[in-house]
Amino acid sequence: MSNWKKSDWRAKPRVQMPDYLDQPALNAVESQLAKYPPLVFAGEARKLKAALGQAAEGKAFLLQGGDCAESFAEFSADTIRDTFKVMLQMAMVLTYGAKVPVVKVGRMAGQFAKPRSAPTETFDGVELPSYRGDIINDLEFTPKARIPNPQKMLQAYTQAAASLNLVRAFSQGGYADVHQVHEWTLGFTRGENAAKYREMAGRITDTLDFIMAAGVDSSRAHTLQTVDFYTSHESLLLEYEEALCRIDSTSGKPIAGSGHFLWIGDRTRKPDGAHVEFLSGVQNPIGVKCGPSMTQDDLKQLLAKLNPENEAGRITLITRFGAGSVGDHLPRLIKIVQSEGANVLWCCDPMHGNTIKSSTGYKTRPFDSVLREVREFFEVHSAEGTVPGGVHFEMTGQDVTECTGGVRAVTDEDLSSRYHTSCDPRLNASQSLELAFLVSEELSDLRQRKAEKVA
Ligand code: PEP
Ligand code: CO
Repeated sequence: MSNWKKSDWRAKPRVQMPDYLDQPALNAVESQLAKYPPLVFAGEARKLKAALGQAAEGKAFLLQGGDCAESFAEFSADTIRDTFKVMLQMAMVLTYGAKVPVVKVGRMAGQFAKPRSAPTETFDGVELPSYRGDIINDLEFTPKARIPNPQKMLQAYTQAAASLNLVRAFSQGGYADVHQVHEWTLGFTRGENAAKYREMAGRITDTLDFIMAAGVDSSRAHTLQTVDFYTSHESLLLEYEEALCRIDSTSGKPIAGSGHFLWIGDRTRKPDGAHVEFLSGVQNPIGVKCGPSMTQDDLKQLLAKLNPENEAGRITLITRFGAGSVGDHLPRLIKIVQSEGANVLWCCDPMHGNTIKSSTGYKTRPFDSVLREVREFFEVHSAEGTVPGGVHFEMTGQDVTECTGGVRAVTDEDLSSRYHTSCDPRLNASQSLELAFLVSEELSDLRQRKAEKVA
């Protein structure tokens, strides 16, 4: 849209965004951010879009994961390294099953703003505005901490820049070299997953020794030594997004500079709302979360508004219905995509439809429900003849106890021991790997079924 302006969202209904009290302070922060360099570059976003277009056709597979909410307090090189490392391990397991490239996208370097189910929270009879993520206010339960503070956008930008710097170094500087596959074993010394992973790593090393001995050329060696790792976040705080929007000098079109891939949350995806308006005008690949309340008509309007040219790789539909409900909703959305002839990448988020309160009072997700939703996602796509192109998880490389279950079973009683998330419960390193093995098996079955069909 040639006449689109990055501030057009301001005239549209907005939800889930803070009302800043100090307008001059907000304006000052916005002008400062507008002068800063973008965090990502248009060429990178284009490359990701092309890769997602491949995933939509089943020629690649999207792995998107990371924190529910990044936090200022938990920010450290070790946290970033460990999440990155688990993503590499998961990608390795997936590549092994799917035999296609895995597109790695972190919920990282910008995942700071959170939509909330209620505008206020009550504890011990005291009601305060909800915590909305470290880019907006503070988690601490005091009236002062919950006031939205625009200065926090500057700290978020700085943290995102430093995180990206480290991730770029890990991706390109040798850490992601596939020959390190054994070194990525984290603290996995126990458990079935560790043994399974080590066995797979052994087979990969053997294969590598073979191709190196057979004389792989240096350009291919480079492919094995580096990875493309992209960043993503929910595009929720539009003042921040607008301030980092830039013009791509190659295409002359607007591009969001805050991350490679931005998504619209399940609570902010009204076709006529502010969030859809903003994302309709930037060139990045974008995601749309689809929960049970997504109507066929909404989806139709969203596809028309967000991807009028029907460009491949532009739209990823991230479905999150909850275990037991995929069959009720996914087929009706697939029908719309098919009748519109729309290019989309289907991705499964088995986290957000499976959040419950544990018997001990913690917000958690039973690992069995997470696995079940993934299986149902594959089943429905198989029945419909469509492509299950990716998965989206909330996970961390740390050994947290936030989701129950898994081979090193976390129980309701265990939740209190290492429950560190500032928002939703994440899979720990071991659960993430277990999930990767499940997805890998599904992908491998799919590949075999395809091969049988051809034969
Ligand atoms: C999220 O991904 O953290 C999130 C809030 O998801 P959804 O919009 O699908 O609820
Ligand atoms: Co979440």
